[in-house]
Order: sequence, then C-alpha cells, then structure tokens
Amino acid sequence: MRIVCIGGGPAGLYFGLLMKKLHPEHRVTVVERNKPYDTFGWGVVFSDATMEAMNAWDPESARDIQDAFNHWDDIEVLFKGTRQRTSGHGFVGIGRKRLLNILQKRCEDLGVELVFETNVENDLDYADADLIIASDGVNSFIRNRYADVFQPDLVVRPNRYIWLGTNKLYDAFTFDFRKTEHGWFQAHIYKFDDQTSTFIVETTEEAYEAHGLGRLDQQGSIDFCQTLFAEVLEGAPLMTNARHLRGSAWLNFNRLICGKWSHFNGHSHVVLMGDAAHTAHFAIGSGTKLAIDDAIELTRQFRNLGHGKENIPAVLEAYEEVRRVDVARIQNAARNAMEWFEVVGRRYADTLEPEQFMYSMLTRSQRISHENLRLRDRTWLEGYERWFARRTGLDVADDVRALPPMFTPYTVRGVTLPNRIVVSPMAMYSAKDGLIDDFHLTHLGARALGGAGLVFAEMTCVSPDARITPGCLGLWNEEQAAGWRRLVDFVHGCSAAKVGIQIGHAGRKGATKRAWDGIDQPLDGDPATEEGGWPLFSASALPYLPQSRVPKAMDRADMDRVKADFVRAAELAATTGADWLELHVAHGYLLSSFLSPLTNRREDEYGGSHENRARYPLEVFAAVRAVWPADRPISVRLSCHDWFEGGNTPDDAAIFAQFFRQAGADLIDCSSGQVVKEEKPVYGRLFQTPFSDKIRNEIHIPTIAVGAISEADHANSIIAAGRADLCAVARPHLADAAWSLHEAAKIGVTTIPWPQQYRSAKYQYESNLARAAGTSS
Ligand SMILES: Cc1cc2nc3c(=O)[nH]c(=O)nc-3n(C[C@H](O)[C@H](O)[C@H](O)COP(=O)(O)OP(=O)(O)OC[C@H]3O[C@@H](n4cnc5c(N)ncnc54)[C@H](O)[C@@H]3O)c2cc1C
Ligand SMILES: Cc1cc2nc3c(=O)[nH]c(=O)nc-3n(C[C@H](O)[C@H](O)[C@H](O)COP(=O)(O)O)c2cc1C
Repeated sequence: MRIVCIGGGPAGLYFGLLMKKLHPEHRVTVVERNKPYDTFGWGVVFSDATMEAMNAWDPESARDIQDAFNHWDDIEVLFKGTRQRTSGHGFVGIGRKRLLNILQKRCEDLGVELVFETNVENDLDYADADLIIASDGVNSFIRNRYADVFQPDLVVRPNRYIWLGTNKLYDAFTFDFRKTEHGWFQAHIYKFDDQTSTFIVETTEEAYEAHGLGRLDQQGSIDFCQTLFAEVLEGAPLMTNARHLRGSAWLNFNRLICGKWSHFNGHSHVVLMGDAAHTAHFAIGSGTKLAIDDAIELTRQFRNLGHGKENIPAVLEAYEEVRRVDVARIQNAARNAMEWFEVVGRRYADTLEPEQFMYSMLTRSQRISHENLRLRDRTWLEGYERWFARRTGLDVADDVRALPPMFTPYTVRGVTLPNRIVVSPMAMYSAKDGLIDDFHLTHLGARALGGAGLVFAEMTCVSPDARITPGCLGLWNEEQAAGWRRLVDFVHGCSAAKVGIQIGHAGRKGATKRAWDGIDQPLDGDPATEEGGWPLFSASALPYLPQSRVPKAMDRADMDRVKADFVRAAELAATTGADWLELHVAHGYLLSSFLSPLTNRREDEYGGSHENRARYPLEVFAAVRAVWPADRPISVRLSCHDWFEGGNTPDDAAIFAQFFRQAGADLIDCSSGQVVKEEKPVYGRLFQTPFSDKIRNEIHIPTIAVGAISEADHANSIIAAGRADLCAVARPHLADAAWSLHEAAKIGVTTIPWPQQYRSAKYQYESNLARAAGTSS
C-alpha cells in the first residue's frame, strides 16, 4: 500500500511509524510544512493509559519518550493570597519538540519517508496514494476542502489564551488565578523538561479587550503576563516560540466535531486523524493523547481486518466507529473543564472561599469525584471534609473523620435538615379524591425511615381541576389536610426527616390518565365522572399533544381564582406541621407554561419579556409566601432548560431564579424539560447539575440539584464543590427506600443512625459490605 500522511504532528508521525513497523512493504511518507526541528508549542501531558498503549505497540519509541518524561504528582493552586497543594494526580509531561524528534527518528529508523518544508495544497498531488491521512491539525485544509462530506462543526470558544514558556521550573502542576481591574486571568503551568515549563495564560474576551491585548505585539503581551504573574514567576522571564503567528498570538480555542471521518477522493481514501478530526481543550491536556490513540486504532483495524487495499473501506469504517466513542467521552470531560475556566471569574472566583474553589477546580471535568480524590490524596480530602463540616456548624476534632458533605446538616430559616438528601417529588397516581391514604403513609414513611433529610410528597394539586390525573394528591379541603397531619406526625415521630409539600397546578397537562394507563394521554372515560376529564387552563390556548384537550388561555378572573387556590393550599399545608413548601413552576405545568416562550404566546402583560412571563408565577409566589409561616422555607422548582429550539435555556432560568430570589424564595430546585413533547434532552450522569451550579454561583441563591444523581459519590461531589446545597434523588428512592442509609454504609460511614427498630440490621449490612469489598478484618 502507498500511504501518505499530510502533516507531521504526533498523529501523522505515529501512524506512519506503526504501519511501517507492522508492514515494512508499505511505502509510507509523512509530509510536513515545517523544518524537522521547528515547531510551535511547549510541553504536552500524557496519561499512564496512553503510555501503556504506546509501550505495547512500539516499545522502542515508548522507551525514549519515557526517558524524556517529567513526572509529577502534585497540583498547586494560587488563589487570593493562598497557596494550596494536593497530591496523587500523576501526570507526565514532555516537550512537544522532543516528542516529535523522537517520533521522527523512529520513523527514519523504520524506513518511513519524511518530507519537510513542503506545504501540501492539494491531496490530488498524491493521486498514487491508496490511503491519505489528513493529519494536518485543527485548521486542516483537507477537511475544509471536503467539508460537505466531513461536516465539520467548529465552535470558536469565548476565552483567549496565549501559549508561553519559562525557564523557571515548577515541582507541581500549578494554577495561578489573578484578578485585574477588568477581570480574572489564570495561568496553567507545568514543567516538561529540565530547563523549561509551559505557561499558558487564559482570560475572557472582555478582559482581553479591556486590557487592549489584541493591539499589543507578542512582546507586549509577554510583558503584561510577566507583571501580572510576577509572584509565581519570581523574576523568571516568559518566552514565546510562536513568532510565526502574526499579531498578538492570543488565540481562541476551536472545539471541533466532524460528522464523518473518511472520504474517497476519486483516487485515494482520505481519513481524518488527530486535531483534524476532533479537538479537546488543553484544560484536560488530552489532544496529543487523542491523536496517538487514533493512530493506534487505525493500525489495529488494519491488523485485524487485513492490510490489503481492498480492506481500506471496512478498516476506515471500523476505526471511526471505535474512536468516536472514546473521543466523545474525552470531549465531554474536556468541555466541562473548558467551561469551568470560561466562567471561573464570574461564577467561582468571586464567590467561593479558597478551599472550596480548589475542590471545584479539581473536580471541574466531573470525571474526578469525591471518592476518587480520597484515593488520590486522603489527607487533603479528609482535611477538606473537616473544613466543610465545620462550616455547617459541626464540631470536628482534627484527628477524626468528619461526616462527608452529603450527611452534614443544612439550615434555612427555622428549619434544620439532618442531611442534604431530598426524596424528590414523585407522582404516585394512587390517591382518591386527592386524599393521602395508607399507600402514601407507607411509601413516604418508609423513605423517612430510610434516612433522607427531607421527604417530598408528589405534586399536590391546589384544586380538583388542578390535578394531572384523578389519582393525584390534593390539598383543597380539611379532610385532605387531616391526612397530611397523620403523615407529618408519623415522620416527625419516627425519624429525623422533615416533610415537604410541593404544590402545583397541572395546567394544560391536566386531565390525563394515570402513568401506567398512558402517560400524558387525555382521559377518555365516562364523561359524567372525573374519568372523563375536566376543562383545562394554561398561559395560551395550546394543547400539549395534538390529541390533548385545548386549554383556555387564562383571563384575569381565572388567575385570581387559581391564585386563591394556591393560597388556600398553602394555608392548609401550614396547619399540617409540614416543614417545607415547594412551588412547582417546572415541567410545563400551569405556572411553568407562563415562563416558557414555547407555551406562552400572550400579547398582554403576561407574555413577551422575561418580566412579563414571570409576572403571574411571581404573583402566586408572593401570595403563597405571605401566608406560609415566616420561619419555614419555600423552594421553587424550575425547568432550567426546555431542550427545544426557541425555548428557555439555562440563561433564561438564571433570570427567573433572580426574580424568585428577589421575591423571597429560599432555594431553586433545578430540574429541566417536560415543557413540550418535542424536546430533545441530553441525558447523562448529573445532567442537570450544571444548571444548579450556574444558578447557585451566579445568582447567589441556594439550590437543589436533581437528575441522575444515583450514588453517594455523586452527591458528595456536588455538595462539596458548591454546585448545590441539597441533592434530590427520585428514581433511586423508588428502588431503595433506605437509599441514604445504604449509601452511607457503601462509603464506609457507619455513624449515621438507623431507626432504633432496625439497628440489628445495620451492623450486619455494614459487615457484609466490608466482607464483599475484602476490607473486613
Ligand atoms: C495551548 C495548547 C496547549 C496544549 N497542551 C496540550 C497538552 O498539554 N497535552 C496534549 O496532549 N495536547 C495539548 N495540546 C493539543 C495538542 O497540541 C494537539 O492536540 C496535538 O498536537 C494534535 O496532534 P496532530 O498531529 O493531530 O496535530 P498537530 O500537532 O497540530 O500537527 C499537525 C501538523 O501538520 C502540519 N501541517 C498542517 N497543514 C499542513 C499542510 N498543508 N502541509 C504540510 N503540513 C501541514 C503542521 O505544521 C503540524 O506540524 C495543546 C494545544 C494547545 C493549543
Ligand atoms: C414516577 C415519577 C414521578 C414524578 N413526579 C414528579 C412530581 O410530582 N413533581 C416533580 O416536580 N417531579 C416529579 N418527577 C421528577 C423527579 O422529581 C425528578 O426530578 C426526576 O425523576 C429526576 O431525578 P432522578 O434521576 O433521581 O429520577 C417524577 C419522577 C418520577 C420517576
């Protein structure tokens, strides 16, 4: 086979050498526009996993790379006059030039033809090639030439960065955060050989503009950075090796995803590799790793499927299929880390204390969790747990293990929750006439006994026609309040848990069947009974499904009536002894239908701007707050993302959260979606937590995170990082009423009390877990 790699970066060189090594009869050429020893950039970092793979595929080059490596374990953060350090993070760094020179030498030894100082302008210049590797980096001309096939999706990210070097050597991966009169700057610093450290400086576009950095030449930018980071540089100068870049050398990171990775140009098969196919932000230092892993995978597919020309299409297909998965995973983590650095100034740096700032930074990609930090550096993590617990008012001695964050108490107004775990509201569709019965007592009672700090019942409807289904709970009469009293008394008498009531009105999503008879499907029973449905209200006269009943767009009289229903429900709730009220303004129900532009098409003062759309929900909130006891909190549940074009996004949710905060809401419960049926949510572990993080740290109101939080490790990571104050857990609580108690045992916390009646099971449960983990004595 004749193989031509266009671009002699890590991807092109490594693929070239692997293929030549595996099949010496192939003719392999790498064409590079630069000189052999001429390259931009400073150091790159690798993970142990990539090194293992390189060792398996080509021990010779791996050995040389390993010899040239600088290894370090610590991360140090300089922030607001503090210097914090943690260990166990295991990085290896190597100079980019050194890496390329090792790969070039290995290519030459194996007989790969290296052509330098040749700028390829047309892939058809290599029409004799069977396979062309487009390893020509992020600005790949080949990808751009066949853009209609490769479908590149390139997003220019908002931050600016400049990639510099210094001869000062650092013994930890160092992050330095500095505030100027125009905003925050951060330096990412690490040593990669015996003389040099990489020094990347990053800031927002606004700060870059305000300082006029775009108008400076490279020396001007270097002078600026040297002054700003003088403390960490200790007099060492900064250097550039990007003189080839015109202007100031401050760049924007380009996030790239391609719809397809290969193409037949009429003569040769062309395939994208490395940065030409995808990019991962330097915040997790994985670009070179991805390029190397691509080269390995394509070689593996040739080895598995055959080296003949006829196998190329199948090989390219298999390569793309396998690599897409890994690349998406890394890009996901890189995106989280990148976004953290993009918002760090406005979201975290001015808000969090240094200890929590450090924790938030370490967990920025959401790949490193609380327990993972314990494995890396137990002393640091346990010190942080003590700091966190003390801030919640617990008295913790220096030599004891503090309660992990999720088990620390939380106080708001006159209510103290024993821990941060909430049983999220879940409709059970099992009520008759809206009444709490033995099912609800048993169901919610069991979850209170199971260790949660706050137990919410399902959305409790403020009038008969506010119900989603005929099976929903209600609170519009004294008989219903009496049922609640029985439940509240039971929970208070038998557990430390507090009780929350979520009040709501179904709006246009009302009068539907119980979930198991057809979720969201309109009732079609006997019209003379409630099984035949009832008239609906919403912000606008738009049905939820095409077959749904068309709601009436509320007029002022409807609004007054429904507001009075909410007030009555809140007054009744206050008499039950319930500790907490939540106003349901999410999921497309009545109040949520006002907030979303997808469901609110009104042209009066209740539609249009954010202020107008929020007017009625805020009016209801104020009326409810006025009758709900001042010493008890109210949270507001919002859909923080409609997941549909033209709908609300987290930026809109932040505006609404601000309004509710000003109106006296105590927390925002950050859910999303269910506003329109055509939504396209992006699910995943902790998928709604970023909304909570944004609202808590930008709007400065406490939050509840919810959605795919299924382990103690998730909850601890969220709360410790300050991404939420409480974690609501729904489906895992259906699977396991004692979720909190069991999760405590699973992470080795044995100090959480079980109900006295169950105590004999506690020790056995913990011992069985310890035995299974091989940690029992
Ligand atoms: C500030 C910064 C910091 C980074 N830090 C890290 C890090 O710590 N760890 C990490 O793993 N990665 C890091 N990266 C990413 C890393 O540099 C890339 O992901 C990696 O180099 C990709 O390898 P590649 O071979 O695909 O592309 P490149 O390394 O970009 O190589 C492409 C090559 O193609 C050549 N070329 C382009 N067009 C032509 C043409 N028409 N004709 C001939 N030759 C051509 C170029 O000269 C270049 O040598 C960082 C990137 C930046 C910007
Ligand atoms: C059976 C069921 C019923 C639900 N009912 C409600 C409800 O009444 N009110 C509400 O705000 N959310 C409701 N939800 C949403 C949950 O409170 C929660 O936000 C969602 O399930 C995501 O959390 P999880 O991933 O822990 O399940 C319900 C969820 C389930 C599974």
